[in-house]
Amino acid sequence: MQKRLIIANWKMNPLSQKEAEHLFEVVKKGIKEIENVETVICPPFIYLLSFKLQPASSKILALGAQNCHWEQKGAYTGDISPLMLRESGCQYVIIGHSERRKYFGETDELINKKLKSSLRAGLRPILCIGEETRDTFDSRGRPLNEMSLVVGEQLEKALDGISLGRIRDIVVAYEPIWAISTNDGRSCLPISAMQANLFIKKILSKLYNRQIAGQVKVVYGGSVNAKNAESYIKEAGMDGLLIGAASLNASEFLKIIKRVNNSFYENPPRF
Ligand code: PGA
Repeated sequence: MQKRLIIANWKMNPLSQKEAEHLFEVVKKGIKEIENVETVICPPFIYLLSFKLQPASSKILALGAQNCHWEQKGAYTGDISPLMLRESGCQYVIIGHSERRKYFGETDELINKKLKSSLRAGLRPILCIGEETRDTFDSRGRPLNEMSLVVGEQLEKALDGISLGRIRDIVVAYEPIWAISTNDGRSCLPISAMQANLFIKKILSKLYNRQIAGQVKVVYGGSVNAKNAESYIKEAGMDGLLIGAASLNASEFLKIIKRVNNSFYENPPRF
């Protein structure tokens, strides 16, 4: 069985080095017996160098960054090169998160450049895509099909010029914006995540081929917690999860990892 991927997106948290190191150490200790999950911690850049991984644990625990520049080096004040991330022990980098698209004006074209530069640097990009609203209707009652329109366009533009030989190094994260950080219990139903999963595989089959599409990891992100985590694996057939808020709570995060470690697909996705 392919390992599931559980990615912690700490965003701009926690506020001190001490808290960050503590959280990292608790997670590291807690996953020692985990066999079926690779955990990726994506902290703010400033903490990366203090999280040293043992080579032996690298198959169960890896480091990732939350962003990188589209060039390898140069006069880009305040930014960070994918080569620096690789040098700092990162194996992964999140690219095109909806918060970067919204607050930093990242476009599909820019995201495409970042994907290419991170691949060139030897990183595995985690490409985030997702619609702002879903399953709504226009004033005449016609479905707007936002998921397929937005996800299709974002995926095709992001992957422009990325070869068949490199696509398997990319992880696709379906993160419907309407389901991210909801505090009111609203979340994406597993069936809706399953539809997006199949749609993403269909686009990948069209852009590459069916066999490759089956090998690209597709993960789900948006208000995942210990209660709903398993359903995205078992019912939606996802290869893993991208977790924000719940990854800052070590015991909740470890619960998620343990549940996913022991869960199997009920409906293997067919596309
Ligand atoms: P959330 O964040 O789990 O807090 O909804 C997910 C994300 O934005 O990656």
